[in-house]
Amino acid sequence: MNIPTKVLSKDILDSIKRTRPVYAFGRRVRFALGSRLGARVVPGLGGRAHYNDFMLSSTDAEHVGGYRRGARQFVELLGRSLGEAGRDWSSIDACLEVGCGYGRIVRELRDRLDPSRIYVTDVIEEGARFTASEFGASAIPLIESSAETMPGKFDLVYLLSVYTHLRRDLVARNLAAVARAMKSGGVAVFTTHGQGSAETAERYEQYWLDKGAVLQGMSAEGYYYERYPYYYDEYGLTWFRRDAMQALVSEAAPELEFIAHHPMALDGHQDLFVFRKR
Ligand SMILES: C[S@@+](CC[C@H](N)C(=O)[O-])C[C@H]1O[C@@H](n2cnc3c(N)ncnc32)[C@H](O)[C@@H]1O
Repeated sequence: MNIPTKVLSKDILDSIKRTRPVYAFGRRVRFALGSRLGARVVPGLGGRAHYNDFMLSSTDAEHVGGYRRGARQFVELLGRSLGEAGRDWSSIDACLEVGCGYGRIVRELRDRLDPSRIYVTDVIEEGARFTASEFGASAIPLIESSAETMPGKFDLVYLLSVYTHLRRDLVARNLAAVARAMKSGGVAVFTTHGQGSAETAERYEQYWLDKGAVLQGMSAEGYYYERYPYYYDEYGLTWFRRDAMQALVSEAAPELEFIAHHPMALDGHQDLFVFRKR
């Protein structure tokens, strides 16, 4: 049986999103159903895919191909980032993905790193649990609460499309915890929406987003954040200019030294930052 991941058209979904309680209720029901259904085999993917995997928009060959390509490309970028920081895969004993979702990246990372060396965490605990059980990684509690219990543990910590959604103070809190959990000489890699993304903000096709306001925030403060109007949680779309992100890292996690910034390196729209712990 092939149950589609997304059942509503964008237009219908957008009109539901305009009434927050209705959208929130529908989303809860959708996730509860996905949790009930669990995981299934999807042709073209190694390992099963969870019904709640929001990164897999459908099981069409085209979407599955894009899902895999994006993940493989990111694993390649991780390898390049390690090289820029003077490391390589063979020197990574413990690697943590913060914001692993339902394992899109770990599914591919297993080709580079033995799963016994991979740790994952996510606000969506079900996602972290699934990633761990399906791909042989280990799930840990949120890094904001667990870093103190595992200082200096990780050689590599990465976050893909996480700081692209968080308000600045939450990014700062997360960065401080990530730095605490890293080994000296460890490498942090994360993506952001940068200036190039702001200049092409229409690509996100968000009916509520004012591109002029994004550009204004970027030029005035080097930062713009807006919560998804249909969410109750503090979660939305975030942009950082390169200098603003570097300033934030210096303030929140001064033990991290800047290694590299690659504008629009991921999929031609997210920026990629590399830092190393002193
Ligand atoms: C856009 S998704 C990306 C998922 C995955 N990195 C990928 O690219 O396939 C962002 C993920 O970050 C998670 N997230 C947001 N804030 C987080 C935090 N403070 N700690 C851990 N996960 C977080 C969300 O729950 C979500 O699963």
